[in-house]
Amino acid sequence: MAASNCAVEPPRVLLLVPARTYRAADFLAAAGRMGLDLVVGSDGALPLGGHPVARVSPGDPAGSADRIMALGRRFDAVVAADAPMLTLAAVLAERMGLPHNPVDAVIAAADKAEQRRRWFRIVPATASQDALRRAAAEAGFPCVVKAVSLSASQGILRADDPAAAAAAARRIRRILAAARRPGHEPLLVEQYVPGPELSIDGLLTGHGLTVTAIFDKPGTPDGPTFEETVLVTPSRLPRPVQAAAIATAGRAARALGLSHGPVHAELRIGQRGGQPRPVMLELAARSIGGLCSRALRFAGDQSLEELVLADALGRPAAAGRPAARPSGVLMLPVPRSGVLRAVEGRGDAIAVPGVTGLNITIPVGRRVQPLPDGDRYLGFIFAEADTQEDVEQALARARERLRVVIS
Ligand SMILES: Nc1ncnc2c1ncn2[C@@H]1O[C@H](COP(=O)(O)OP(=O)(O)OP(=O)(O)O)[C@@H](O)[C@H]1O
Ligand SMILES: [Mg+2]
Repeated sequence: MAASNCAVEPPRVLLLVPARTYRAADFLAAAGRMGLDLVVGSDGALPLGGHPVARVSPGDPAGSADRIMALGRRFDAVVAADAPMLTLAAVLAERMGLPHNPVDAVIAAADKAEQRRRWFRIVPATASQDALRRAAAEAGFPCVVKAVSLSASQGILRADDPAAAAAAARRIRRILAAARRPGHEPLLVEQYVPGPELSIDGLLTGHGLTVTAIFDKPGTPDGPTFEETVLVTPSRLPRPVQAAAIATAGRAARALGLSHGPVHAELRIGQRGGQPRPVMLELAARSIGGLCSRALRFAGDQSLEELVLADALGRPAAAGRPAARPSGVLMLPVPRSGVLRAVEGRGDAIAVPGVTGLNITIPVGRRVQPLPDGDRYLGFIFAEADTQEDVEQALARARERLRVVIS
């Protein structure tokens, strides 16, 4: 019969099937439907339907790959049917010149700790400029370079390419020196997460995280510096997104080993596969900083501090129920370097409907610096209104009426 002369050879696939898997039958059925020429690599005895079987062991990818290569057969694809074979599949595909994931990425993706480590890099103080550039490239651009010990967005810069990352690191080193931090402090380089930012305050109990407040941060900057400006509560993010963010913050607290007292979590809502995905920026074992807690009022007109104290005393948190009215706070960033001479227009600012308070927290005569060098805000404006939009507007109007004089 001449049929074989004109038949097109079916693609030959090496399917790596671990001994313990639910997936073997489905993969074999799929291969059968597709008419593939299948060779199965496995580390166990499986009912594999008469396909040639090559012995492999996932614990020894190099040796297993040697054995497969020694078969001298050409494959069109190498596929791992399940997780234990992923590394071997990547090693083999690399040797065979087939498209594949980098072997170390596959290893990293199989390791939860390594997954977390992937999107940031810790760069020791002794690292060369080259090492810093490499770390940034590994984290991916745009990235954020930050000092590990500072707060209030001091020493934090976004970098869009290796040169910018190196420049940011040099600048942050100078900021650290000026802040008299020990010279051996490492820097953090992490992926920049675009998307809306929020903060979650809560109290940890044996039962998990009881949320006290969620603040949206409208107008979150996208860099290169990250001044915190407006916080508005309650959050306007969709409920499921808030719930996911709370769950993420709770997990982060647990992962850190925290189980008691207040936490303040900061997250951004990134995207993965077109779906919103909360990403932790950081979590502190304290309640929200600055004077921001003054924007909050709870049942019985309690302050956040009362809730924290009651919680420390073992009293059940009657929390959970912030006062019904939307409220917010605006932190006034330092516009430029110099000596603060005056903050004018306070009366006008306070008179804006909805504004409930204004505190200038830096004394006149003090030297001030904008971000990323500075570590202070000029002060705080508070507002309360029927809607979050009105809160934002009141804060913005009040800010417009202030004139900050710096010489
Ligand atoms: N990986 C990132 N992606 C996007 N933005 C980031 C990232 N890291 C930091 N930022 C921005 O910088 C701000 C400050 O960063 P971070 O919270 O890590 O430092 P901080 O100095 O503790 O700030 P603060 O004291 O104001 O909370 C964040 O609120 C966020 O807007
Ligand atoms: Mg922060």
